[in-house]
Amino acid sequence: MRTYHTPLDLVRERSPERPVALVRPDVVAVAARWFQDNFKGDVLYAVKANPSPWVIRTLAEQGLTAFDVASIPEIELVAAHAPGSRMAFMHPVKSRAAITRAYFDYGVRTFALDTHDELQKILEATGQARDLNLIVRLGVSAEGAAYTLSGKFGVGLDQAPPLLLAARRATEELMGVSFHVGSQCMRPTAYQAAMAQASRALVRAGVFADVVDVGGGFPSVYPGMVPPALDDYLDSIHRGFEEMKVHETTELWCEPGRVLVAEASSILCKVELRKGDALYLNDGSYGSLFDATHARWPFPVKLVRGSEAEAPSDELRAFRFYGPTCDSIDHMPGPFWLPEDVREGDYVEIGMLGAYGVAMNTRFNGFGDAETAAVGDAPMASMFGLAKRSIALPRADDAEERKVVRFSRPKGKAGQRRRRR
Ligand SMILES: Cc1ncc(COP(=O)(O)O)c(C=O)c1O
Repeated sequence: MRTYHTPLDLVRERSPERPVALVRPDVVAVAARWFQDNFKGDVLYAVKANPSPWVIRTLAEQGLTAFDVASIPEIELVAAHAPGSRMAFMHPVKSRAAITRAYFDYGVRTFALDTHDELQKILEATGQARDLNLIVRLGVSAEGAAYTLSGKFGVGLDQAPPLLLAARRATEELMGVSFHVGSQCMRPTAYQAAMAQASRALVRAGVFADVVDVGGGFPSVYPGMVPPALDDYLDSIHRGFEEMKVHETTELWCEPGRVLVAEASSILCKVELRKGDALYLNDGSYGSLFDATHARWPFPVKLVRGSEAEAPSDELRAFRFYGPTCDSIDHMPGPFWLPEDVREGDYVEIGMLGAYGVAMNTRFNGFGDAETAAVGDAPMASMFGLAKRSIALPRADDAEERKVVRFSRPKGKAGQRRRRR
């Protein structure tokens, strides 16, 4: 993968025709180190957030070699780019064929479930294996997330006790609980509250959990959504864990997706046409801009104009975007603030799109074929620069970059628990 100092260098050198995923592996490395240094348990990356090989490889290079996978293609991806890693199949509904391949071909031992039927399916598809780690996904009520994820998966807390008991009896290895407080969770205490609910379900079932998996949901920074410091989330989880009725040996796991990758990548799009305040771009809601359409998130933007002869105007105005397909859903309302003289042939860098960006690409209308290039500038915002327990971040080149990131030495390892392979 070619590295450019800045997106402008890329545009000046070769005016790309296709959208470009601008990636910053160092930024993923910082996020991985921060989580591993500060989370008192095992960190499993939720591959769905960004399944790009460069992400998997960067995490593995940082020693983050545990992955939450949801399908056989995700398992194949991890096996190819981080061989020997530990994988947990955390989708609560899997095909029998997928379970069998995961268990026998890829050595996956950890499976999530939220029904008795899925438990039976896992047992049958693994030939009644006794060495499974069975994680019961609970449907907790958690507030404060931009995307609630409680509707589709998770056994209700009233129905949980018999399922917990059945899972406990079905394995000689680990039995655990997991939940998901929702993606882009803006309230740190949601975790502690969910853990209290999980603890009550376990007490009612009369079983101890070997694993408490708090899922994902850790937020990133977007315009209008500046979350509390990440430290507050970890403090809430560590407090919640102390309060749970669990064994000394019970393991704490988390499955962050968004927070590890969101700030590390942006998308460079070309302006194909301007109609008043509407810019027609070569990427859109069927490509990397799903959240800009469906959640109406006004991602941060920067104009990148290749021509040195004509600097962009200092006056900003609000724009909306249309993507390249013929569907009128392919509309991102923004507002996106750009120089008022933006025109055809300019490029727009849309920031904070490392999570659920390229992951959402489709081929509709023949589009969706983004390329990837590494860049050496800082992300548009950083949760890790804002964290109280800060960490050394890459590059301190200019004052502009210092606004979003803070440069100080990491504080060292915080009581890491034993890592399981
Ligand atoms: C089981 C599970 N774990 C982890 C995640 C990652 O969530 P996030 O990207 O919000 O951290 C998801 C997202 O849908 C999920 O379903």
